[in-house]
Amino acid sequence: MDCSLNLTDKLESQLSKDIINALVLCSKTAFESEYKIFLIGGVVRDLILNRKVADIDVTVEGDALKFCHILADKKHCKILQVQNDLKTVKARFKNNVIIDFASTRQEFYPRRGHLPVVVRIGCTLQEDVYRRDFTINALAMSLNENNYGDVIDYTGGVKDLENKTLRVLHDNSFNEDPSRIIRALKFAARLNFHRDEYTKEQQQKYLTTQIHNDISWTRIKSELKQTFSLNIPRAYDMFLANDTYKLVYGENPDIRGLEIKTLVDKYSPDYPWLVYLGTVLENKSIIDAFCFTRAEKKIFTDKEILLESNLNLHSTNYEIYKCFEKRATEAVMIYYLLTKRKEALVYLERLKDIRVELTGHDLKNMGILEGRKIGAILDEILKKKLSGKIITKADEERFVKQQIKK
Ligand code: CTP
Repeated sequence: MDCSLNLTDKLESQLSKDIINALVLCSKTAFESEYKIFLIGGVVRDLILNRKVADIDVTVEGDALKFCHILADKKHCKILQVQNDLKTVKARFKNNVIIDFASTRQEFYPRRGHLPVVVRIGCTLQEDVYRRDFTINALAMSLNENNYGDVIDYTGGVKDLENKTLRVLHDNSFNEDPSRIIRALKFAARLNFHRDEYTKEQQQKYLTTQIHNDISWTRIKSELKQTFSLNIPRAYDMFLANDTYKLVYGENPDIRGLEIKTLVDKYSPDYPWLVYLGTVLENKSIIDAFCFTRAEKKIFTDKEILLESNLNLHSTNYEIYKCFEKRATEAVMIYYLLTKRKEALVYLERLKDIRVELTGHDLKNMGILEGRKIGAILDEILKKKLSGKIITKADEERFVKQQIKK
């Protein structure tokens, strides 16, 4: 165990006064009530890396629920949420500081990739850190008065942070939780780290030898969402090069991440992460298992519809427009990436926002009463707008008047 690193200065420079005050209250209370408490996981990693800290996670050696009740009795915090089986607590301190408390625990996984069944709550910190994903996420920082700020490193995480290395803690890590394969991708992209040889071997072993159809796809989906929402081309390139896409039974489309990022930046779709994933994800049962929202699912059905369309070099702007108009922008982008058909770009760049400004109601007011005729004229206006022969609303009105005269 390495305790030579102390983060007291980093706490001061990277955390707000309010968070530091809350941590000091926790520390004092722990001392008085003889608990041992630690910052744990991502927060310690990010403090050492001088990165913005997202969440404050504290682990209590023992029962976090009992400890939080002591804090609450002293009016230091308000308990917001309790998860009784895991003995975790979300608490709010002064000025809206939120801290997540967990009890140290050892875990047992009944089925690969599913939430673990707890074996033992209140184990030692050392036993707790060995259930975690990578050495860089298995670091703790003491919040105890005798060694406040000391980093506790049972697994060599500090060295791995220095060497920018992602390393799993044991042979069973990916079996226990295959979403860690995607987490490795996320951290590699976000922090510009790489997996060590052992971790690569473990991943390859998992992907080639395991039958992984009973895993928790929602966790995998959540990690994929976080990873591709980073909009970092390297994440996608690694996803393909490292065979990670096989985890979701995908197809390697031989596309570069930069190509996708360029499109995403240009057309700002609502679900950028699904443009990345949608180029790879083919398997219908996995798509179902991901439990997409209706809007997300539409992207995949639209993609299939577009891949069956028969646009060609001679398609008119009107045909192109009609093919894409009802499809999700993400699906149009995926279609382009997979087929490289220029018509998709013509649509995104020039046609997508073209609309007929006159409505059926306007045409009625102008004296055209027959429904079918109204539809036909509006369609004719659209064709002319798409070919650039009609531009403004005044042009549209002029065209309608000509039709009435005829
Ligand atoms: N963890 C794990 N295995 C997982 C997910 C999480 O071992 N599949 C552990 C890691 O120790 C991690 C901690 O739980 O640091 C908290 O998880 P999470 O909040 O998802 O990750 P962070 O490391 O805090 O990363 P982020 O910055 O993305 O929030």
